[in-house]
Amino acid sequence: MEFNIAILISGGGSNMVNIVKASQKEEIKSKVLIVIADGPQAEGIKKAKDLGVDSKIINYNKLSKKEFEQKLLGYLKKKKINLICLAGFMKILSKEFIKNWERKIINIHPSLLPSFKGLNTHEKAIKMKVKYSGCTVHFVNEKLDSGEIIDQDIVKINDKDNEHSLRKKILMKEHKLYIRVIRKMEKINGKF
Ligand code: GRF
Repeated sequence: MEFNIAILISGGGSNMVNIVKASQKEEIKSKVLIVIADGPQAEGIKKAKDLGVDSKIINYNKLSKKEFEQKLLGYLKKKKINLICLAGFMKILSKEFIKNWERKIINIHPSLLPSFKGLNTHEKAIKMKVKYSGCTVHFVNEKLDSGEIIDQDIVKINDKDNEHSLRKKILMKEHKLYIRVIRKMEKINGKF
C-alpha cells in the first residue's frame, strides 16, 4: 500500500530530505504530502519548500500543547495522512494524540534502543565505551523512545570515534534505515 506521509521535524531535516527524495524518485511508493516543523528554528523547512513539498510551521512555543496538536491534526486531516514520520522532531506528543494514531506514528532514534533513550545519545555511547551503536525506527507510544521496534541498523565504534564522528556514521545509516522501514510498512500494509 502507499501511505500519505507527514514528516515532523525540529532541525536540519536530513532524514526528511532523504525520504522526500526517495518518494520523488519513486524508490518508495508512498508520498510525502506535508512537512511540519515545530518552530522557525527548523532549518529543514526551507529544504522541504525547495523540494516542492507543502511545508508548515506550527510554533510550539507560542501555543499550548493542545493548541499545537489541534493545528497539527487539522493539517493531517486535510491531507488525509495515514503515516506520520518523526524525523528529528524534539517535542513529545500527548497520550491523547498518540492514542488516535496507534501504529501510525514512527520515529527514528540514533541508538540501538532500548539503550540510550532520550537526548545526548552519542555522548552517552562514547562515555560508556560501547563497541557498537546504531539507529532504531520504532512505533511511537506514550513512553519516550519505548514503542515496538520495527528495524535497526548497527555501526561499530572505534577507539578514534568521538561524538561527532559517531553522529555522522549513524546518520548515514539512519537515512537507509528509514527508507527500508517505509518499504517494509508498504509491503505489509502497515499491519505489524
Ligand atoms: C537524527 O539523528 C535522528 O535520529 C534524531 O534526530 C536527528 C535528526 O537529524 N531523532 P536530521 O534532522 O534528520 O538531520
